[in-house]
Amino acid sequence: MDPNKPTSSNEPTLRDHVYDGIQEYDQKLPNWWLFTLYIAIVWFVLNWVFYYQLGFGSSDTAVIDQAMAEMQVARDKQMETITDKKLWEMSRDPAVLAAGKATFMTPGMCVTCHGTELNGMLAGAKLPGLPLDDQQWKYGGTPTEIFKIVRKGSPDITKGMAAWEIVLGVKKVSEVVAYVLSHHHEGEPITKAPDSPPAGGAAVAPAAPATSTTPASPVK
Ligand code: HEC
Repeated sequence: MDPNKPTSSNEPTLRDHVYDGIQEYDQKLPNWWLFTLYIAIVWFVLNWVFYYQLGFGSSDTAVIDQAMAEMQVARDKQMETITDKKLWEMSRDPAVLAAGKATFMTPGMCVTCHGTELNGMLAGAKLPGLPLDDQQWKYGGTPTEIFKIVRKGSPDITKGMAAWEIVLGVKKVSEVVAYVLSHHHEGEPITKAPDSPPAGGAAVAPAAPATSTTPASPVK
């Protein structure tokens, strides 16, 4: 019997070619398969017209941008509620302190530059960070000022104090600030460091030198 000839009218014919000993039937594509193909084509056309031609619907990027903006607004809201009083309260909450201490003491974090005792020292040697256990503050010693410098980092990035909010998020920053505050007392005197930037955060301007044309008053 010739294998290429159908045995009955229902059977598909074998095509002539042979590749590596493999032959193929001359079959019609199944309707269900063709149906999915046509649906996909129609779907493509609709999408193309809808998103790319008419500009309806938002792209994924726009959706993400929108979500990010909403998160930013929510975060700013959360920040508005942080006050000196709230941070002092947090500094007396053992659960917050445990979390803040864990962050502070993580190798590579605060402890690396500010020391385990927060005094900016390691075994008698000075570390890069400023002491955080004294009452002298370069960037202000109120809880919200400390919170700000830890969130935003030093205005002079070459100093090495990073903007920790990006790394830790607001919650962990508030906890670590509470931990720093737990080394202080509410109402203690705060002094400014000699190299503190003037209020308003502008660059440090040297004091204007006395004009040399003015004769110095004679010393009696
Ligand atoms: C790579 C070293 C380094 C690390 C890590 C680091 N700091 Fe600092 N920190 C500094 C330096 C340097 C300064 C001083 C910046 C300046 O003079 O502008 C500073 C300043 C500060 C100040 C301001 C002190 C003042 O007198 O106003 C605070 C508060 C502070 N750091 C807290 C932290 C906390 C909390 C962490 C951990 C989340 C941390 N730092 C991690 C180096 C570091």
